[in-house]
Amino acid sequence: MKIEVVKNYDEISKLGAKYMIDVLRNEEKVVIGLPTGSTPIGMYKIIVEEYKKGNITFNNAKTFNLDEYIGLEKTNTNSYYYFMNSNLFSHIDIKNENINIPNGMAKNIKEECNNYEKRLKEQGPMDILFLGIGQNGHIGFNEPNDYFETNTYKVSLDESTVNANARFFDKIEDVPTSAITMGIKTILSAKKIVLLASGESKAETIKQAVNGKVTPMVPASVLQLHQDVTIIVDEAAAKYL
Ligand code: PGA
Repeated sequence: MKIEVVKNYDEISKLGAKYMIDVLRNEEKVVIGLPTGSTPIGMYKIIVEEYKKGNITFNNAKTFNLDEYIGLEKTNTNSYYYFMNSNLFSHIDIKNENINIPNGMAKNIKEECNNYEKRLKEQGPMDILFLGIGQNGHIGFNEPNDYFETNTYKVSLDESTVNANARFFDKIEDVPTSAITMGIKTILSAKKIVLLASGESKAETIKQAVNGKVTPMVPASVLQLHQDVTIIVDEAAAKYL
């Protein structure tokens, strides 16, 4: 694991964007795995600026998002589809057919999970996958558990995750309690993984993920087993490293 400690959130965003730009410039066809959440927003802003300056193109890029809530329409402002569109996709030249986000409105969720996994296998592997991390150590929506789930699957969200996400909804009853997420094996299939974490609220889980034992109770700890992982943290999130 490579640990990059930077000063603050802005520096995390800049360095994360640099990793994405490097892959976009060096690979003829690139497959990028993408997260949602508050953390990557600054990185996406920089990517949009770089695109507008003409420094990068997504013409030959495909993207696969990590996860999506079950039961939210694409038009719902809290869906990850909406998030990705407003923060990134509507501002860049990516082709619609190259955008992949699990469909949380699919009639048959199991089939949707299997199809998503299949699509990723056919079009992947991901050259680079960006991750955030939950305070409970989740990556994607892989919540603490007794075992590691492997492929893309339907997950019930932890109460702590529902509570953490409630800040975006009018009332807690509106927060979805289940989601589709890439599994741990899906995540580890990426050639390169870059995890971004900012702020003191992530410091304890970062310590456990980086220095603790590998356990499904801290899903991010499994990243210790991957050969090319970079953790970008600010000083606050690196407090216990
Ligand atoms: P955050 O979420 O970026 O909003 O902190 C990260 C996550 O839960 O994976």
